[in-house]
Amino acid sequence: LGKEIIYLTECHSTNEYAQQLLRQKEAGEGMIIFTDKQTKGKGQRGNRWWTEPGMNLTFSLILEPKFLRSNQQFDLNMVVCLSIWEVLNQYDPNFVIKWPNDILHKTHGKIAGVLIENSLQSQWMESSIVGIGLNVNQDMQIIPRALSLFNLTGETYDLWVILEKLVQRIEWNYIRLKRGEIRLLRNSYLKNLLNYQQRQLFSDGEVFEGVIIGVGEDGKLLVDKGGSIRSYGFKEIQYIGL
Ligand code: BTN
Repeated sequence: LGKEIIYLTECHSTNEYAQQLLRQKEAGEGMIIFTDKQTKGKGQRGNRWWTEPGMNLTFSLILEPKFLRSNQQFDLNMVVCLSIWEVLNQYDPNFVIKWPNDILHKTHGKIAGVLIENSLQSQWMESSIVGIGLNVNQDMQIIPRALSLFNLTGETYDLWVILEKLVQRIEWNYIRLKRGEIRLLRNSYLKNLLNYQQRQLFSDGEVFEGVIIGVGEDGKLLVDKGGSIRSYGFKEIQYIGL
């Protein structure tokens, strides 16, 4: 992965750019679109993703996980989040994964977000655009509950070096996924998941105290709610008090 990198000084969104390349059949597995500035960066839930130009890592990686069925899409999210977590863990031991797609620092807030856009071919995955935004050198202190590596360590980093580390890690775990090591990957994802097996407050329309007991094969969050196990999609549950 990452043998071919397209660097753009500016674009709307690296995910959109990748989508266009795929449509024109000008992209294949492993290609990376990397930019210094997005004018219409996309976040999860239809949100915007904006960061100061040139300061943070903003890229999309194209994968063709044709070995995955369409109901296994979440496996890829786990691989990507775990890989980002593994790289960040080299800088600070207090990062956690927040289901489904964020990386947070236990005390200071969010450092990275992932937006994966898949296209399917009947029962199988066809291509995936893995969009990653990671706060590296920007001072995020004015933004509530956000931080960068710079905020944490006081150092600045070469974005290309961090990019390479991330891509190496994703490649390694992607190979493991291909080899069928999903259970091990899932266990590592859970081990580093925020509040896994701990009591906390949620809202699914009503506020309740529950415990995350896992993530289903379909990627839904499994929560023990008063003794019964419920599964929740992305928009169906909120964490409270974070
Ligand atoms: C989120 O936490 O809401 C996900 C953020 C994902 C942002 C990245 S930046 C590179 C790629 N291109 C986009 O337009 N979005 C993703």
